[in-house]
Amino acid sequence: MRTLEQVWPLFGLRIAAGPLQMRAVRDADVPLLVELAEGGIHDPDAMPFSSPWSTAPVVELGPNMARFYWHTRAEFTPTRWDLELVVLWQDQIVGCQGFTTQNYLTTRTGETGSWLGREFQRQGIGTAMRQTICAFLFDHLSAEEVTSAAFVDNPPSLAVSRKTGYRPNGQTRERRRDGELAISQKLSLRPGDLVRFPHPLVVEGAAEVPAGRARRLTQLPPVRRTAARCCDRLVHCGLLRTGCAPRRARGWSGSRSGDEDAERVAGGVGIDAQRLLGILGAVS
Ligand SMILES: CC(C)(COP(=O)(O)OP(=O)(O)OC[C@H]1O[C@@H](n2cnc3c(N)ncnc32)[C@H](O)[C@@H]1OP(=O)(O)O)[C@@H](O)C(=O)NCCC(=O)NCCS
Repeated sequence: MRTLEQVWPLFGLRIAAGPLQMRAVRDADVPLLVELAEGGIHDPDAMPFSSPWSTAPVVELGPNMARFYWHTRAEFTPTRWDLELVVLWQDQIVGCQGFTTQNYLTTRTGETGSWLGREFQRQGIGTAMRQTICAFLFDHLSAEEVTSAAFVDNPPSLAVSRKTGYRPNGQTRERRRDGELAISQKLSLRPGDLVRFPHPLVVEGAAEVPAGRARRLTQLPPVRRTAARCCDRLVHCGLLRTGCAPRRARGWSGSRSGDEDAERVAGGVGIDAQRLLGILGAVS
């Protein structure tokens, strides 16, 4: 019988570093996350989120949060990712780390967002989870940029960004709550600026991109590059299962190095042809 991880490979993704673990939110995590949120995430007067979900009445908070996590799963497609990871610190659930992006295979950028239950704040956990998700994105998904944003009246979030190496990238004027203007500080992080959490990154469910692979991909013609990258990233995301190697994938590149790339990406790992072509159709 197939496992849920085989059907939905994101459930197989596990990211760990020292006392920190992150994995895709499962249904069993939702009640604990709701309890954390009910316990408070911020001062009642403050609002760190663009959508004020955290101040919903208790009777609505649980169903809203469950609906949100199910929605992110249901809407996760090759072109639109909304990855919500439950965060554990010393095996205890403490909050959530998100990563959202569109057309990632082309843009290689996306935005992080996070929250912690109040009792777990100001202990360095927020910095640890951001540094770790960014290391995962750069090392395993070949991100070229990671963005974030925080309202200017949210010093802890801005401090976490600064401590992770993000640079300011302009401000926007946004509506936060009814009739309330808030200034949002945009932030951008490049791979060379990342400040790493001082524990080794351990990832299951997504293989590390071999050094030099991204460089070789940039030498391929654009169409073939897209195909090879698409295949590569989806394999690394665990969105393609191993199995048979499609002929078409082997023939993507005309160049010798490209053939080797495609062979290693598709032939070496093995990809279900039908899913591959379906996903390629969705991204091209
Ligand atoms: C943002 C958040 C995830 C950060 O997590 P955290 O574990 O509290 O952060 P850390 O302990 O790693 O670091 C917080 C930093 O902010 C600093 N900080 C906290 N309050 C501050 C304040 N009022 N003014 C200035 N700096 C402040 C801390 O001093 C610390 O920096 P330091 O280690 O250099 O001293 C957490 O505070 C949170 O969940 N906040 C509510 C939700 C939220 O704002 N999410 C982000 C939306 S953009």
